[in-house]
Amino acid sequence: MAGRLKVGVLISGRGSNLQALIDAAKDPSYPAEIVLVLSNKPDAKGLERAAGAGIATAVISHKDFADRKSFDGAMTEALESAGVELICLAGFMRLLSAEFVEHWRDRMINIHPSLLPLLPGLDTHERALEMGLRLHGCSVHFVRQEMDSGPLIGQAAVPVLPDDDAESLAARVLEAEHRLYPACLKLLAEGRVKVEGERCRVEGTPSAQALVNPLA
Ligand code: GAR
Repeated sequence: MAGRLKVGVLISGRGSNLQALIDAAKDPSYPAEIVLVLSNKPDAKGLERAAGAGIATAVISHKDFADRKSFDGAMTEALESAGVELICLAGFMRLLSAEFVEHWRDRMINIHPSLLPLLPGLDTHERALEMGLRLHGCSVHFVRQEMDSGPLIGQAAVPVLPDDDAESLAARVLEAEHRLYPACLKLLAEGRVKVEGERCRVEGTPSAQALVNPLA
């Protein structure tokens, strides 16, 4: 299919969300294609997933750079030479410089394992259990300077069950992540997501807005 949106995926580890995007993009009618997978860690398992799917990979280690700004500059250079139009952060565990975030403004999205703005940061499943939440989930959003913030594109909710521990809850949320991220990227690549002020307007039916019913 001509004119698919060219996506660069940034990872630091396992890459299961990357895999969900790879699987979605295997369908030639999916409106986005992954042209580069970039990792800041040479041993990230996601690099093998990308190579296995015949996708170009690059490793840019933050340890090779004096500061965050020059590290981020090297990433932008690699992404732009690959023709990347949109960045998907998928378990990329480095904070990004203000310059990088501004350069890719409204062209960079992230997936986070909570119903934002609740629970930004790490250990979201442990904290959801400690708070006694009944609903938990994941969010896909445009990236802004503040960690895990920015206009929401889609969210998926899952129930917190009485016998859950952090591991069982994480597994339930991860399953939802793997459905939500490709669905949100599709909406975006189809031009159905508009940032208005600091909110997204998503064109389409409510089900296209990537809400997952916890009782379904
Ligand atoms: C995912 O759960 C993702 O939501 C989370 O890291 C995990 C990466 O897993 N991201 C964040 O916490 C970002 N703040 P994966 O490498 O298997 O996709």
